[in-house]
Amino acid sequence: MRIAVTGANGFVGSGLLSYFRSKGYEPLALVRPSADTALLGDIPIRRIDYNNPSNLAELIADVDILIHNAGKTKTLSYQEMLDANLGLTQKLLDAANASPNLRQFILISSLAASRPTSPGKPVIESDPSAPLTWYGKSKLLAEQHLAKESTLPYTIIRPCPIYGPGDRDFLELARICKKGYIVKLGFKEKYSNMIHISELADLISRCMNNPQAYNQIFFAADGKTYTQTEISRAMADALNVKTMNIFIPTPIAMLAFILGDLAGKVLGKPLIVNREKMKEFMAEAWLCSIDKAKELLGYAPVPDLNKHIKETIQWYKEASWL
Ligand SMILES: NC(=O)c1ccc[n+]([C@@H]2O[C@H](COP(=O)([O-])OP(=O)(O)OC[C@H]3O[C@@H](n4cnc5c(N)ncnc54)[C@H](OP(=O)(O)O)[C@@H]3O)[C@@H](O)[C@H]2O)c1
Repeated sequence: MRIAVTGANGFVGSGLLSYFRSKGYEPLALVRPSADTALLGDIPIRRIDYNNPSNLAELIADVDILIHNAGKTKTLSYQEMLDANLGLTQKLLDAANASPNLRQFILISSLAASRPTSPGKPVIESDPSAPLTWYGKSKLLAEQHLAKESTLPYTIIRPCPIYGPGDRDFLELARICKKGYIVKLGFKEKYSNMIHISELADLISRCMNNPQAYNQIFFAADGKTYTQTEISRAMADALNVKTMNIFIPTPIAMLAFILGDLAGKVLGKPLIVNREKMKEFMAEAWLCSIDKAKELLGYAPVPDLNKHIKETIQWYKEASWL
């Protein structure tokens, strides 16, 4: 069975494809013409032009399952976010609907398309969405477009923060921990779920060709609740460094996010610290239930944050990223 993944040269795409290959599927990486494909190793690659409908149709004509993973998490404008997350989905779905062999369209959305919550109250898939950010809104619009326009069975995956080899977002946190700092934004603890790339790939593989997953939304997490401090502590332990806690009061943290926003505009490139991210960071809890995936898909993760973070740190070191 040929499984194609868009945005395949990025962290999630490359991680999914190497997992699928290890499980005996035929992986196919779909990347932009100018993409750096270093993370893909020897996985077969097709370079795809999203602005050319006949090229899109041709490149997915022999694909069985299409996982649309390409997308942006930070941009300088809402329009740019819409173009990347909604626009790309629209173009790909037009080609997918006309494809002769395709059996399923799987969209990698995000927990951000749902809503933040409070500790002990994970959101479920049927809860009304109230995204906070451009990112969350654009992902929700992509989901709605898919649900309305797909003539194929579709599945929407809403992962919480994903970590593992090749991830650049947690790399930033690891760099801070390596300097010996555990940074806390505001004095109140923040709560979130996490999912390792292998757990996400396992959940997605359970959706593939599975009628139980057709036309459904699933949250993706490892099932445990983590505090911001626990995640940093696991990184510091993996790095074997002594740490000190640094508390950044909320008004100062907000100022840093605003300055990050301005710096991004000056540089013409969004930074990881920006005003949109501030909305996510300031929420007390980003928690979701995985009961639906457990019941319908038999998803049964065995969370081990310390082990997975240790392996990720080791990968960063071997790749000379850290
Ligand atoms: N990482 C997480 O914690 C997380 C959590 C929930 C959901 N997700 C979702 O997972 C997906 C992959 O994220 P990631 O962390 O792997 O990000 P990443 O490493 O930045 O990879 C993003 C991929 O999308 C491609 N892409 C971005 N904008 C594009 C555009 N306008 N047209 C075509 N391709 C475009 C990139 O191609 P180029 O290299 O050519 O730019 C790259 O291949 C995204 O949809 C994201 O929303 C991620």
